[in-house]
Amino acid sequence: MIGSANGARIGITGLGAHVPDRVVTNDDLARYVDTSDEWIVERTGIHERRMITDDQALTDIALPAARAALADAAATPEEIDLLICATVTPDMMFPTASALMADDLGADKAAAYDLLAGCTGFMYAVAQAYGMLAAGLSRRALVIGGDVLSSILDWTDRSTLVLFGDGAGAVVMEPVERGGFLGFELGADGGGGVHLQYPGSGSRRFENPEAMLKMNGREVYKFATRVMVSSAEAVLAECGRTIDEVDVYVPHQANKRIIDHAVGKLGVPFERTVVNVDRFGNTSSGSIPLALADARADGRLRDGALVLMTGMGAGLTWGSALLEWTERRNA
Ligand code: ACO
Repeated sequence: MIGSANGARIGITGLGAHVPDRVVTNDDLARYVDTSDEWIVERTGIHERRMITDDQALTDIALPAARAALADAAATPEEIDLLICATVTPDMMFPTASALMADDLGADKAAAYDLLAGCTGFMYAVAQAYGMLAAGLSRRALVIGGDVLSSILDWTDRSTLVLFGDGAGAVVMEPVERGGFLGFELGADGGGGVHLQYPGSGSRRFENPEAMLKMNGREVYKFATRVMVSSAEAVLAECGRTIDEVDVYVPHQANKRIIDHAVGKLGVPFERTVVNVDRFGNTSSGSIPLALADARADGRLRDGALVLMTGMGAGLTWGSALLEWTERRNA
């Protein structure tokens, strides 16, 4: 799916992020599997990640992000009429994390549902919210992306355990007077889905019913390096923009090597690229909003900045969005 905005100016007016307090270092993980800080840093760029404690679940870390986004937008929960939570690790399949969070927040006028698109979930969710807002069906949406992949990891598998962390981010989306989303490109390839699976997590029975994340890292790496470039180039072309115009590049934070590859192929200057995979690992649906929040905190998300975001993940799926940032505080 590809398309550019046709006149409706819909932007992000609030942004929030939250990670659990518990810091897990590479050395901590080396107590569970045969690995080392040196290997993890060299192959992934990850130094540490955050993980929930046994008594926590997704909504415990997603709610603080949602509250921060609402406060940033100066919006009340009653003004939210659409709440989408992108996640592959809801507290449970139902009630959905979105319905639970709408209730906790007091967003009692909101349609609320979860969206499953692997690590690309946040990109799919903002595109969907854009569509509903542009059509006039929604007036103010809260889009949350978050995952607690630590809860579905195989703690004996060194090839996956070291890559992931827990985190969440949220944005408020609504009509804006200037700036806003310019276009989206989203895609899926279920044929490659076998390379990143969570078998036993749904209605299909597997011989080994142990439900844990399984990944063919080399195949996902090849897929990732390809789509991170092709999707970004597609959305730029669709919107009639070039990579030189991009002020802030927000790639999915899966692996520093994948980001470096995309940066090199796209030709985007490294200082315009947001990287926090070293501190948080791959937080799946939380990755892009967490990185956006970092760019905001370091002053790069100034009013009018052209922001390119690209995600990829299980499905296999990918998605990009081009956005002109609207900073209302500087207005
Ligand atoms: N510590 C030490 N050694 C390890 C570890 C580890 N944590 N993990 C794997 N190894 C070993 C392997 O067993 C292998 O040993 P062998 O040669 O004796 O078989 C060796 O290291 C090399 O393994 P490779 O898989 O070739 O290592 P590679 O350089 O490809 O790095 C990695 C592996 C980091 C997983 C890489 O392939 C990658 O980043 N893939 C993409 C993963 C990704 O982005 N996933 C997220 C998708 S988003 C979502 O939706 C969840």
